Amino acid sequence: MTGNHRILLAARPTGNQVPGPANFTADTVPARPPGPGEALVETVYLSIDPAMRGWMSEGPGYSQAIPLGQPMMGGGIARVLESQADGLGPGDYVQARLGWQSHPTIPGKFLHKLDLSRGSMEDWIGPLGLSAVTAYFGLRDVGGLKPDDRVLVSAAAGGVGQIATQIARIEGCRVTGIAGGAVKCDFVRGLGAAAVDYRAEPDLAAAIRRACPEGIDVYFDNVGGPTLDAALANLRPGARVVLCGRISQTHSAEPYGIRNLDKFAASRGRMGGFLVFHYNARYEEARAWLAARIKDGSLTQKLHVLRGLDRAAGALGMLFRGENSGKLVVRVAD
Ligand SMILES: NC(=O)c1ccc[n+]([C@@H]2O[C@H](COP(=O)([O-])OP(=O)(O)OC[C@H]3O[C@@H](n4cnc5c(N)ncnc54)[C@H](OP(=O)(O)O)[C@@H]3O)[C@@H](O)[C@H]2O)c1
Repeated sequence: MTGNHRILLAARPTGNQVPGPANFTADTVPARPPGPGEALVETVYLSIDPAMRGWMSEGPGYSQAIPLGQPMMGGGIARVLESQADGLGPGDYVQARLGWQSHPTIPGKFLHKLDLSRGSMEDWIGPLGLSAVTAYFGLRDVGGLKPDDRVLVSAAAGGVGQIATQIARIEGCRVTGIAGGAVKCDFVRGLGAAAVDYRAEPDLAAAIRRACPEGIDVYFDNVGGPTLDAALANLRPGARVVLCGRISQTHSAEPYGIRNLDKFAASRGRMGGFLVFHYNARYEEARAWLAARIKDGSLTQKLHVLRGLDRAAGALGMLFRGENSGKLVVRVAD
């Protein structure tokens, strides 16, 4: 009998605690054979995402907290082992909310079969995955991206940021990425953008001004807080600000108060927030566009791969400490 190894939520993070191994426990239970309409799958990759910190906590948020003692929620890619679900057979690859478990049994209606002619498994967890789809809709629909726009992206070396940086470059924009440290900034330059190292700059607004002397038409914000403020000080007339994420604020006791709204107003700017799930009816559009750019070689994604399901417990905190270099994933099975 196959065992289903699981990482369970044991304790909710409190206050400004960055989640880590102390919040989780592990067990192994027998894998459950699929009932009618279900499939037993083997998890191959799990995506590690900042939003998971919110899913662990009770309180205001866009999704209900994961119950204590249950597997941590998370999306990824799996191989079908046994199936009683229509259209799925052993050997098929699927994308789903698998949870942090090695061998979940899941209703077929929640399993999205992958077209491996469109991209490899690494493409599907990377530049065809939800981080990439987030960048696509954020820039295009929320940001109203146009060729020749001057675009600024924060957390530009990360999962969403590196795709946003490349989409803007592919669309003919002049792009600047903000990232932490010289190594990440070199990586951003390799994507065809200018780079600003926010960790090395005492005055980030001034550093952005030096990198973007004509100002910014589109700011794609993954970070919030003082980084958002510094970008607002550099907007061009008619600028669009895309509120994708605010990772710098996740653990702050007091939310940072934005100071440069007068400059935002003076620029006749627009600011828009979104969740990628708002676009789920249009994922196919994004994936067709992304797959074409992967095929012609203009779009790539650097993955930061941790091996073994037990690494997931320590992985989430890496995002908040900037320890990931690329889109962070856990490889569960070979
Ligand atoms: N709207 C949506 O539907 C949606 C969907 C997915 C993700 N998101 C958001 O997109 C953002 C990026 O997510 P991701 O999964 O791609 O993560 P990621 O960018 O791969 O990793 C997070 C990065 O954020 C940076 N960071 C962490 N703390 C910071 C701080 N205090 N100040 C400045 N930078 C900080 C770090 O990069 P450095 O080393 O460069 O500091 C870190 O590597 C997150 O805010 C996430 O919540 C939104």
